Amino acid sequence: MKKLSTRFIIATLLAGAAAPGLAQNTMASPAAAAVAHQKLWLGSAWYPEQWPESAWDQDLRLMKEHGANVVRIGEYAWSRMEPTEGKYDMDWLIRAVRLAAKYDIKVVVGTPTDTPPAWMTQKYPDTLQIDGTGKKLGHGGRRQFSISSARYRVFARDVVTQMARALKNEPNVIGWQIGNEPTDESYDPEARAAWIAWLKERYGTLDKLNEAWTTAYWSQTYTAWDQVPFNNDKANPGWMLELKRFITSQWRAFHKNQIDAVRAVVGDKQFITINFGGLGWANRFDRYEMNRDLDVTSWDEYVGMGHLKPYRAGATHDLVRGWKRKNFWVMETQPGFVNWAPVSNILYPGETRALAWQAIGHGADAVLYWQWRNALNGQETMHGSVVGPDGKPLPIYGEVQQIGRDFAKASAVLAGTTPISPVAILQDYPSRWAIDFQLHHKDYDQIEVLLDYYQPLKDALGAVDIVEAAAAPLDRYKLVVAPSLNVIPDAMAKRLADYVRGGGHLVLGPRSGMKDEFNRLDTKRQPGPLAELLGGQVEQFYALDEPVSVGNGKATIWAEQLSAQASDVETLLTYGKANGWLDGKPAAITRKIGKGRITYIGALVDDAVMKGLIDSALKGADIARDFAVPADVELMTREGSGRSLVILVNHSREARTVALPETMTDVLTDKRVGNVTLAAEGVAVLQKQKR
Ligand code: GAL
Repeated sequence: MKKLSTRFIIATLLAGAAAPGLAQNTMASPAAAAVAHQKLWLGSAWYPEQWPESAWDQDLRLMKEHGANVVRIGEYAWSRMEPTEGKYDMDWLIRAVRLAAKYDIKVVVGTPTDTPPAWMTQKYPDTLQIDGTGKKLGHGGRRQFSISSARYRVFARDVVTQMARALKNEPNVIGWQIGNEPTDESYDPEARAAWIAWLKERYGTLDKLNEAWTTAYWSQTYTAWDQVPFNNDKANPGWMLELKRFITSQWRAFHKNQIDAVRAVVGDKQFITINFGGLGWANRFDRYEMNRDLDVTSWDEYVGMGHLKPYRAGATHDLVRGWKRKNFWVMETQPGFVNWAPVSNILYPGETRALAWQAIGHGADAVLYWQWRNALNGQETMHGSVVGPDGKPLPIYGEVQQIGRDFAKASAVLAGTTPISPVAILQDYPSRWAIDFQLHHKDYDQIEVLLDYYQPLKDALGAVDIVEAAAAPLDRYKLVVAPSLNVIPDAMAKRLADYVRGGGHLVLGPRSGMKDEFNRLDTKRQPGPLAELLGGQVEQFYALDEPVSVGNGKATIWAEQLSAQASDVETLLTYGKANGWLDGKPAAITRKIGKGRITYIGALVDDAVMKGLIDSALKGADIARDFAVPADVELMTREGSGRSLVILVNHSREARTVALPETMTDVLTDKRVGNVTLAAEGVAVLQKQKR
């Protein structure tokens, strides 16, 4: 029987209760992280526990033959590691790690906490998750545990400690992945207790909470802490925003428990990561917060149905790179196709390679396929894999082998390089949540809004950053674009104002500066704490039931009526004949502040109008465009260690020729080239001459 010491329970609750930002950052390890970025890594997720050991050698040999240098193992193997309570078997894991070493394939070890063993589910049902509908989950799937269960955290800590002890002296292990794709929170009684403790820590008194949430509205005033609701979908937006912050802190504490266990045993010899799912953009918790304790970040890139959408995929990589403002790993991607899309079609020949190179162009240092070989049964037998159930190569193997050859050629020149941009797009989870809670127009999709801005920026530049509005250093950027910064607390307003006063150019999109830290309406009109600097404000916002004319084009979904208060405010864009209220009114205004500038765009405009606005912002901020490439060809740049790289990917089904502005070295062919012809889905990796 697992005993829970009082000390552990208190420690766990406190870890869960710490307010975001107040939580102690676990020391990240730069030395361990450096290993993750020292070269290009290629590999797969491999599940040796699903196969007889006699099959392992052939698996690893075939991996080596396609150029793999890394494999991820372990993340679902709890029932093999701890077959009965407290009885551990890590010998097979050590054997798998050592066999991989024979082929010089390094190992990232996944902790198995997404799949608790059946004995635990049976004996300790209090470790199970209660979902948002109040249903307790059972065995047979995955992720059925409660992130808030103190008992579960003890079990997790213990199995991870045993793994770390078994593997700490294995030089072939380079890193650890904690759990896999954090997803759902739990609404069990322990989680509720942690929520109340978290609120007490954050607010101190109920009076403060009542004021922050404006609970005078609808008689919501709380007179005892345990009156505060925990799972209620008709809730107050102030409550909803705090619940998201609480869930973030629960997830962070859940992971920190394991991170501390690994660190305590292995020190800083091996890096620690979390593999983020939800196709990058999911926002069940704040991903910046979650990344603070990690050495390296990673995510799972899946196309699902259809084919690669270059802007969306590229922006997602840039978002992920911004989580730690460092290069990242693609810990999983599809070898051809998935099993979960409405139509799980295969990518075109060459597209899997294009996908891999697009990831590298946006700052990935690793690409791993999910998965190497399908289990013979279980929920995912239909998923794409690199080898078949017979353990022999599938048709996609040849393409993965081509990627292996590419990486072997390009790894040394790409090491120590990263995309560097003069432009940052700001992203902020509280703002995303706040808008999503009160959409006001069913089609207001913040990712699409971000992509509206991203697309013309990416067309102009080889690299665009997407970074955390609340914390990323801004002084390195000539232009900062915030498409949907709905929640602007005072500290953020000050950062942005300082940036503009220091000579930076800031562009705010619609719905900016409407709410404060508690998701309360700001008493100043939008953009709230930045209205004075802008010298203008939003008179009224409108959800549009039909497009309205603006400049030489149209606005759809959202339009705000702007006004200028200060005499030096210029109007960039005006509504034409619109919904009556907007007719002839400013749609975008701008004001010069010393060498800096602040601009507010109040509508969701069409691509041509947006291109005009972004082009003039780039010009105004004195940003030179990268060289022009044909449509469907993506230009990406990485720089560092005295090298300047250009990566070109042809996202079309036809060949394209790109004229280069100067002679460059084609890294994959070793030729000096003045122009390159890319086959359909073709790739070129070019190195500029040293100046
Ligand atoms: C991921 C998950 C993998 C596998 C894969 C299938 O989200 O991490 O374990 O399920 O999806 O596409």
